[in-house]
Amino acid sequence: MAEPSPNIAGSDTRVSPSIGGIAVAEGRSAELEALRLLEDAFGAFDRIAVSFSGAEDVVLVDLGARILGSDLPVFSLDTGRLHPQTHRFMETVRDHYGVAIETLAPDPDELVDLVRDKGLFSFYRDGHGECCAIRKIEPLGRKLRELDAWITGQRADQSVTREGLPTSQDDLAFSSADHPVKKFNPLANWSGRDVWDYIRRREIPYNPLHDQGYRSIGCEPCTRPVGPHQHEREGRWWWENVADKECGLHAQNVAEPLRIIDR
Ligand code: ADX
Ligand code: SF4
Repeated sequence: MAEPSPNIAGSDTRVSPSIGGIAVAEGRSAELEALRLLEDAFGAFDRIAVSFSGAEDVVLVDLGARILGSDLPVFSLDTGRLHPQTHRFMETVRDHYGVAIETLAPDPDELVDLVRDKGLFSFYRDGHGECCAIRKIEPLGRKLRELDAWITGQRADQSVTREGLPTSQDDLAFSSADHPVKKFNPLANWSGRDVWDYIRRREIPYNPLHDQGYRSIGCEPCTRPVGPHQHEREGRWWWENVADKECGLHAQNVAEPLRIIDR
């Protein structure tokens, strides 16, 4: 699809002799592994895109743009409940990288029915499954019908539900017999520290909510800041059990195999 970047290590790094034709940034094996994975993925799939939530997964956009520049395909699920800061941040990212960010909205009829029948905050009573299904999973399923592979910013250290997360996997939730979907998780082996070292070192923009104590960022009513000794996921769906904190985008982390989309 795209020509490999001539200097994948970037200009701000000390570069050691190349491995397999890719320059290696000394001491930055996680970064190298992610870049190589992305380069292979872009080479193997034409119908592929980065899924960007508007949070620290901006690292994915930066890594991808180092390979594809402004041609990097990016989409975001605009649930209608994101923080205004997240919307503004997406615009910052769009301007910074010159990339188009496709935003996907929920099906209006499903949304009208949910809000009419249950109000705007049913997830506090019933759990987040129903609302996430309408605001995130259905739009993602729609998008994945156009794609053969997608790229996420999930990390193994984010949650007990993500322990052992592979860097690439078959997407068991969104594949069907006649349309297999591949899922790449280039940051699977990164720590939170790796992410923030990368953001600072490369001076890339980040969501300003991170400076207000928000670590993992999702929808506004389902996200809150955490204290210094709390786990990042404690700020997400805090009224629910830690083992249930997947919204269905990554359902196979908690139930495998599972087929959400019947196509
Ligand atoms: S979630 O399932 O709990 O909401 P999380 O916020 O950890 O997921 O994000 C993990 C990855 O899922 C992100 O890096 C991104 O690739 C994808 N993702 C999550 N939310 C969205 C969104 N609103 N739009 C696009 N991708 C998203
Ligand atoms: Fe709805 Fe909360 Fe899920 Fe957003 S995170 S889609 S507001 S339940």
